[in-house]
Amino acid sequence: MTNPQRDTRVIATYNIKGGVGKTSAAVNLAYLAAAAGHQTLLWDLDPQAASTYLFRVRPKVKGGGRGLLRKRNSARDHIKATDHERLDLLPADFSYRHLDLALDQFKKPAARLRKVLAPLRADYDYIFLDCPPSISLVSEAVFEASDALLVPVIPATLSSRAYEQLEELTRAGKVGRRSGTATFAFFSMADVSRPLHLQVMERLRGIDQLTVLGVAIPTADEVELMGEERNPVNVFAPASAAAVAYVALWTEIERRLRPSAPPAGS
Ligand SMILES: Nc1ncnc2c1ncn2[C@@H]1O[C@H](COP(=O)(O)OP(=O)(O)O)[C@@H](O)[C@H]1O
Ligand SMILES: [Mg+2]
Repeated sequence: MTNPQRDTRVIATYNIKGGVGKTSAAVNLAYLAAAAGHQTLLWDLDPQAASTYLFRVRPKVKGGGRGLLRKRNSARDHIKATDHERLDLLPADFSYRHLDLALDQFKKPAARLRKVLAPLRADYDYIFLDCPPSISLVSEAVFEASDALLVPVIPATLSSRAYEQLEELTRAGKVGRRSGTATFAFFSMADVSRPLHLQVMERLRGIDQLTVLGVAIPTADEVELMGEERNPVNVFAPASAAAVAYVALWTEIERRLRPSAPPAGS
């Protein structure tokens, strides 16, 4: 059902680096948002199509990424239902490896994703963008389209460096980020039994300009098992530490994005 009154939030899981937990976060958080009663869409923007796979959808974009970007309302025709209530998916396929080139053909490439998403705001409370690991025209368009960037950071020095780089680029105006986009980092694959991880977590939390969320996602077999189960952790191992952490992470994100909303379940 379409509701023009929706106050949609667009959330992108983003990091220049791959393998840091972007897709795992996008899949689990989108599932939790939908389970809490929100109409939710996940747009898989990565040609590797990992979140498409995890939600058991065929990685096929008819007419390719280029076709989808071109026509107004075309995105809606590509949306697939998932096995989960209120959760839809805009799948990726291999054509997305040329998404940069496709965007570049528009007069305002960085504004394009925002434009494509505009009509979908009437249908969804939350739209998640699962981004490819890069800093490119696609990322710029993602920054323009998003209300919040959610940046997983593995608490090891090189991985957290990528987050600091993003902040530096943003401050220097090199990343065309729309003002008002919040950036939240969270620790991913954290191991608090390792002194190095604790040190890095403490250091990043101490930097004023960075918003580091309080909840960290621990390293856990259940997250890796998502690839076998092809389901969010909260579906097949709801009592696991990872599932509990994703619930806490989602609660914290929602509280920050909607400070005046009543807490979930009330
Ligand atoms: N908290 C975690 N514990 C254990 N393995 C994880 C965790 N988060 C992600 N992984 C694994 O690490 C790999 C990369 O995660 P993924 O979410 O696909 O990262 P990205 O989207 O940033 O490339 C995957 O094999 C995934 O199962
Ligand atoms: Mg990914």
